[in-house]
Amino acid sequence: MKLSIIGSGYVGLVTGTCFAEVGHHVTCIDNNKEKIKQLREGHIPIYEPGLEDLIKSNVANGRLKFTDSIKEGVDDSEVVFIAVPTPPQPDGSVDLTYIEGVAREIAGVLTGYRIIVDKSTVPVKTGEKVAETIARYNKAKADFDVVSNPEFLREGCAVADLMNPDRVVIGVKGERPVATMKKIYEPFHAPIYITDINSAELIKHAANSFLALKISYINAVAAICEASGANVDEVADGMGADKRIGRAFLNAGLGYGGSCFPKDIKAFINISEQLGSPFNLLKEVEHINEQQIDRFMKKIRDKLWVLKEKNIGVLGLAFKGDTDDCRSSVAIALCKRLVAEGAKVRAYDPQGMEKAKNEISGIEICSSAEDVFNGAEAIVVATEWKEFRALPWGSLKDKMVTPLVFDGRNLLDVKTLRGFGYTYFGVGR
Ligand code: UDX
Ligand code: UDX
Repeated sequence: MKLSIIGSGYVGLVTGTCFAEVGHHVTCIDNNKEKIKQLREGHIPIYEPGLEDLIKSNVANGRLKFTDSIKEGVDDSEVVFIAVPTPPQPDGSVDLTYIEGVAREIAGVLTGYRIIVDKSTVPVKTGEKVAETIARYNKAKADFDVVSNPEFLREGCAVADLMNPDRVVIGVKGERPVATMKKIYEPFHAPIYITDINSAELIKHAANSFLALKISYINAVAAICEASGANVDEVADGMGADKRIGRAFLNAGLGYGGSCFPKDIKAFINISEQLGSPFNLLKEVEHINEQQIDRFMKKIRDKLWVLKEKNIGVLGLAFKGDTDDCRSSVAIALCKRLVAEGAKVRAYDPQGMEKAKNEISGIEICSSAEDVFNGAEAIVVATEWKEFRALPWGSLKDKMVTPLVFDGRNLLDVKTLRGFGYTYFGVGR
């Protein structure tokens, strides 16, 4: 099938590439001309495992191309996906400027029947507004359907998530777009849930909020573990073995970050209030998440006392492992707190160093993980990169002033670290 995707970021680019991989002809569109130029020259603007190879092979076989022209994309496809940002506003509500702008641009070039699919995470009832907008601004009075098809990919394993989805959610009004949408997803062999548009939009916010709730739940349990001498890893394993609960998203740590959970939870709280059904439970989810950094800072302060002029090595800047994305990263927030207290922060991230520079200044970026240990009075693990676990911790200890480790992601093996002579602090263990 011929598809186009407006917005070639973490969501749009990976989705478009995977559609091409299963045989569709895909045009990825972006209004950032420089990004399109780079993509055409074979430079991939984001780090996502497996993505570069897929882009290169699908460009070579002619199924994937890039343009900055919405008209070109709309003219040349049966289905147009929207994957532009939906950032938060100061009051927690969602800024729908980009969605509205794209809807108007589509209206400006639409001449015949197209299915317009919203992939961006949007408040319930946005589909109705998109349909109204396109109808209002389309002079040709062309026929179209609006569909909601939320994306559930996780950065860092986005290609695998897209190629093997747990489910595909398709929100429609009427039958007309159903067969085409099913055909697009047929090659993925996933269960397909056909719903109304409002339900599809809600599924995304409800799912992300539930996952965030699991993380805050285990972080609250971790605090009780610390107070009682229990071990949160063992508690999570024991809880998670119950199929009704599941072990996933029960990893205690510094809390959730990234460009989705923090904004989506805020948005869902705001939406629930607008609809007159305040979802106050989610306020506590947020509150617990915010407390995680405070509690961790206290742990560091309790041990190191005054942080001014202290050399602190930070492993990880990205919001999670296997990505270069540093937007709303808890690791960055933690570095800012350390800097605010006068500490000298020296940090390293395997992929996020370039993007971290947009988010923070006043820290020294090291050229390797090993370098972070030089002269450090403490090491802080802030992102769950697996390769940090594999570092030669035994020998690296000698580079430090004092062998203290604050593991904000419960990434390291406690016994091994203590065996090497480190004083180790994790979260709830
Ligand atoms: C975005 C949203 O943040 C998220 O809510 C939604 O679920 C999916 O889209 P992401 O792909 O991570 O997520 O955003 P980003 O990596 O910033 O990519 C968005 C792209 O859209 C950028 O490349 C930007 O240049 C482009 N864009 C933005 C347009 O092409 N047109 C616009 O009007 C605005
Ligand atoms: C999330 C959703 O998982 C995905 O379905 C949706 O499409 C977009 O938002 P993403 O933000 O890419 O994906 O990453 P995710 O793996 O969910 O991690 C989010 C944050 O939660 C990270 O900061 C991570 O460190 C943290 N996390 C995750 C925990 O603290 N504990 C866990 O057990 C899992």
